[in-house]
Amino acid sequence: MATVGRTETTDIAVHWKEEEYIQPPTTFVRQANLVDPAIVDRFREENFPDCFQEYAEMLAWDRTWDTVLDTSHPPFWKWFVGGRLNASYNCVDRHLARNKNKAALIFVPEAETEPTCTLTYQELFVRVNEVAAVLRDFCGLKSGDRVTIHMPMIPELPITMLACARLGVVHSVVFGGFSGEAAGLRAADSDSRVMIYADAYYRNGKLIDHKASADIAVRTAANEGLKVEKVLVWRRRDGQDLSNTPMVPGRDYYMEELLKGFRRVRVDPVSVDAEHPLFLMYTSGSTGKPKGCQHGTGGYLAYVTGTSKYYQDIHPEDVYWCMADIGWITGHSYIVYGPLSLGATTVLYEGVPTYPDAGRPWRIAEQLDVNIFHTSPTAIRMLRKAGPDEPAKYNYHFKHMTTVGEPIEPETWRWYHEVVGKREAAIVDTWWQTETGGFLITTKPAIDPMKAGSAGPAALGIFPVIFDEDGREIPAGAGRAGNLGIRNPWPSIMQTIWKDDERFVRQYYAKFCRDPKSTDWRDWPYFAADGAMLAADNYYRILGRVDDVINVAGHRLGTKEIESACLTVPQVAEAAVVPVVDEIKGRMPAIYASLKPGVTDGRQVSEQIVAAVETMIGKIARPKGVHIVPDLPKTRSGKIMRRILAAISNRMETGDVTTLANPEIVEQIRKQVQGEGPVELQEGPEDLKRFGEQE
Ligand code: WT7
Repeated sequence: MATVGRTETTDIAVHWKEEEYIQPPTTFVRQANLVDPAIVDRFREENFPDCFQEYAEMLAWDRTWDTVLDTSHPPFWKWFVGGRLNASYNCVDRHLARNKNKAALIFVPEAETEPTCTLTYQELFVRVNEVAAVLRDFCGLKSGDRVTIHMPMIPELPITMLACARLGVVHSVVFGGFSGEAAGLRAADSDSRVMIYADAYYRNGKLIDHKASADIAVRTAANEGLKVEKVLVWRRRDGQDLSNTPMVPGRDYYMEELLKGFRRVRVDPVSVDAEHPLFLMYTSGSTGKPKGCQHGTGGYLAYVTGTSKYYQDIHPEDVYWCMADIGWITGHSYIVYGPLSLGATTVLYEGVPTYPDAGRPWRIAEQLDVNIFHTSPTAIRMLRKAGPDEPAKYNYHFKHMTTVGEPIEPETWRWYHEVVGKREAAIVDTWWQTETGGFLITTKPAIDPMKAGSAGPAALGIFPVIFDEDGREIPAGAGRAGNLGIRNPWPSIMQTIWKDDERFVRQYYAKFCRDPKSTDWRDWPYFAADGAMLAADNYYRILGRVDDVINVAGHRLGTKEIESACLTVPQVAEAAVVPVVDEIKGRMPAIYASLKPGVTDGRQVSEQIVAAVETMIGKIARPKGVHIVPDLPKTRSGKIMRRILAAISNRMETGDVTTLANPEIVEQIRKQVQGEGPVELQEGPEDLKRFGEQE
């Protein structure tokens, strides 16, 4: 490990003002699902793992489990072993007897002139069955096969997911904003013979031709050795062709047409083992290749159902709106599976929050009488900047609100609480990850007070720990930051990385495992790759990633992935990507590149780099800056010192650079980026002080 100017985690003393407690409103407490403090006893460590049966009992099982937790093959934990169930049955069929006429999904198109569209549970049931019939009888898909779904936020997305789940087919949803290349690579990794698309969608007032991405995805997959046999295309508007990209005969099929052959067909839900994979969700890690986080059926569905009930406080009569995209884990767990499993009404919004103006979310909330609202700090910052006084103009009332995905500054939290929530709502700041499937750190909204900027205590049955670099526990109230770990398994922990058990163990368990031979879960803490700090009151404050992941607007991007995209530009010799602080998005990537000998037009190369990043990954990876530099700072062994570049981009102390192979380059780059004059150095946020440490 390089030690050039390295900051020891243990050296970092974190100073901030402790925020005041804010008690949840009594109106909220009076109606909350989770009010009895005795539940904390039921979920004590001595009751682990049996305590989680309380969540499993919220589901309908075809066969009950024999064993709650099987630890015989760590860290491949098995939950509710012997149990059998179907996720689509749990999210749809079981609500019909009492609630068939209740709204399951309310779709809000981006254009305000287009009416909202409501699907009752009965309508959802009919559509899920017919789509499942297409997948089974037209595509020949069966339990265990994988399907890649690259779709925007339209009702057909959750319908397609539930149709897969009905058959035991493993869905892999790729965020609609990702490029065709990104979707193709993921399809190839998961061996998806079938891909599902939408022809088009609306975003910020523009119609996006999404079908164009399908052709790129199929070509990319072919280069990786996978033949995609069928592409099913949903029409954004029935009967209209909104895309100019031609259909490929014998490969591309409109869903609308296929469905005509399957009207009124019913497909029995396939009963699967609790451990049967429900979906893959690709996420960025510290290598160039995204990893397919594999989630199971029983443990996952039990955990997202239980946490939706207790931490989102969803009741049958609520209107729940999570503004995330279903293409991310938040959407899977807390737009689709958790809320629908509880029989709730879940709102799906197609567009950007500030379209056509910053009052839009509050008009939607008023019109649909949304009372539970869930979003990210980036969306809150955007809405605040564009319309700080907008919420007061609308007559809506949230009883509960969520912030998720990135650390929220106390000031932004307070605007959310006072202006968006009108001081009427209980707020939860939920910490979790694609890998964890559900919330792991959050306040219990009617029991624990809120504290701006702190995620809160551990969720029920979760036992986190903060380790220093040597694996020693940092106690509560020590005033020092460290690595966040989770001591115990929980039902929605990912099962493995798709086709890469070895990487799964290495990435999440190797760092703090006490004894690789042990079958006692206590020897296998989970490594979250986040820095965190534990206050004396057992509230966790999350500081951000300690690996090479950049959290842009609550979305994970790997520095190595962006670097690989840069290197596809032929003139680029070397590239390094670092996070830079952004007032709205939290962090954004900054790119440093050196050019091959003889290349002189840096401006043109910069543009090509930006284009390459957008094509290979998507617009969300667009850099905040591209710096064409003569050389990159390196250790004597040739390792690029990204930490130093991050320090320059964020005007932080670069530390000792004298042991570098090319120390003079640091000052040269600094002047190029910061200008000639003296620069006031910033202390910088904790994650940036630690950036590159795990390399
Ligand atoms: C990373 C996981 C969890 C769903 C959305 C993101 C950061 C997540 C919080 C929070 C501070 C947070 C962490 C984590 N993060 N929630 N409440 N406070 N940081 O899922 O894309 O897998 O990203 O998001 O850094 O590791 P993801």
